[in-house]
Amino acid sequence: MSFTRITAAEAASLIKHGDNIALSGFTPAGTPKAVTAEIAKIAHSEHEQGRPFQIGIFTGASTGQSCDGVMAEEHAIRYRAPYTTNPTFRKLVNKGDIAYNDIHLSQMAQELRYGFMGEVDWAILEVCAIEPDGKVYLTSAGGIAPTAARLAKKGIILELNAFHSTKSIGLHDVYEPLDPPQRKVIPIEKPSDRIGTIYLQLDPSKIVGVVECNLPDEARGFAEGDPVTDKIGENVAHFLMADMKRGIIPSTFLPLQSGVGTTANAILAALGSNPEVPDFNVYTEVLQNAIVGLMREGRVKTASTCSLTVTNDILQGIYDDIDLFKDRLVIRQSEISNSPEVIRRLGVIAINTAIEVDLYGHANSTQICGTKMMNGIGGSGDFERNAYISIFTCSSVAKGGMISAIVPFCSHIDHTEHDVNVIITEQGVADLRGKSPVERAKTIIENCAHPDYKQLLWDYLKIADKGHSCHKLSAAFAMHDTFLREGDMKLTQFGQYVH
Ligand code: COA
Repeated sequence: MSFTRITAAEAASLIKHGDNIALSGFTPAGTPKAVTAEIAKIAHSEHEQGRPFQIGIFTGASTGQSCDGVMAEEHAIRYRAPYTTNPTFRKLVNKGDIAYNDIHLSQMAQELRYGFMGEVDWAILEVCAIEPDGKVYLTSAGGIAPTAARLAKKGIILELNAFHSTKSIGLHDVYEPLDPPQRKVIPIEKPSDRIGTIYLQLDPSKIVGVVECNLPDEARGFAEGDPVTDKIGENVAHFLMADMKRGIIPSTFLPLQSGVGTTANAILAALGSNPEVPDFNVYTEVLQNAIVGLMREGRVKTASTCSLTVTNDILQGIYDDIDLFKDRLVIRQSEISNSPEVIRRLGVIAINTAIEVDLYGHANSTQICGTKMMNGIGGSGDFERNAYISIFTCSSVAKGGMISAIVPFCSHIDHTEHDVNVIITEQGVADLRGKSPVERAKTIIENCAHPDYKQLLWDYLKIADKGHSCHKLSAAFAMHDTFLREGDMKLTQFGQYVH
């Protein structure tokens, strides 16, 4: 069967106001780019003519400028799930203009299948090759593609993107679990295990058209590490080595997951360059530049990921040297890369960045001062809740020192005290394992808080009402409140809360 070639504009014209689209990709990697850019143009013209045009978007994780960016700019998004990093989207969410459902990434595909989020009208998938029987080969991410394709009731649009080399065929392990009560064990016992197929089998009768394009992935470059991120990386490496020497981590080491962004990249670089750290495996959702370098050096032996969120030069390097990567790198669906079952079985050490943490070990990954969405929870909860050791890192202060990342009580809680083992800032390491709430609070203030905020946090503990966790509820958010009113948390005065 040969599939009809259509333009991106023709494909976009199929999508109507009120439809829901589900996309391949995970981060900007592997996300379609041609059709969504045309949908944004349709939204622009419809709005100019006074007609409504808004759709729902289901993705694996964040997307790039050609999707969330242009669609948000044209007010074309009614509803979206899950994670996103786009600043325009963020602004609209925080104005209340977009219904944003921020869920754990491992749950996205299954919640679509369970019918929690409405129907999928269209699937738009980026592929690097198509076979006449409907087998397609995904590009740089696994995401929710199989579920998107299977649920799409109006049809599937394929973006055949020549930017992605067909040499990448073989990197994917495509697997869609059955739903309860038929769900089976996901039989992954080591990060490199393969349990699915290298292709995604589509129903050929659902393919409404193929859009040919040649568009680069839109992953951003990384800011250079700075002394703070480098010190955090060093602290993580020392902590893990100490745990290995004590026999808590086996001498063969355990698979690592490290989150997104500059800090995560710096942590991996620090681990890779520490001669005491043995060669290790990675079981993660986002594979960034640092891991590719470490794979080339042999420091990372094998890596399982949901996406290659690398800069385009690094991505082309993988395609060029595919023989080096093929047997050691596997790209999975997000419900597998982030599967609680697999993460727990493998004993993954999870390291993610928080916006703020509190004295008892709760962590906030998503909302500034309790109300303003930053990006979303991403896969941090999937990994941290199920990790062998769950580590949160952050700089001890933000916004030039006006904000302490260590606060009496998190203004929003994504990860509870029960799910957080260790907090690491550039100041040091708070090992919370086996400690009571009050012991945790003392360790966090002593080891992780910035010197400018230590006394303030001790002052809070002093006025806190005694209990299992000690709090003075009227003052628990005083540092946030002072920042919002006066622009500097350091101006907080806990004395006024003593009655
Ligand atoms: N209060 C207010 N703003 C804060 C803050 C705080 N306590 N802590 C950080 N910020 C701001 C920073 O100032 C920065 O703002 P800017 O963009 O205006 O410069 C922004 O948040 C990002 O912080 P940064 O220090 O650059 O860290 P980052 O790039 O590592 O991002 C998270 C940190 C938490 C936003 C990011 O890791 C995230 O989205 N995490 C959730 C998802 C996740 O963990 N996924 C991992 C699985 S792969």
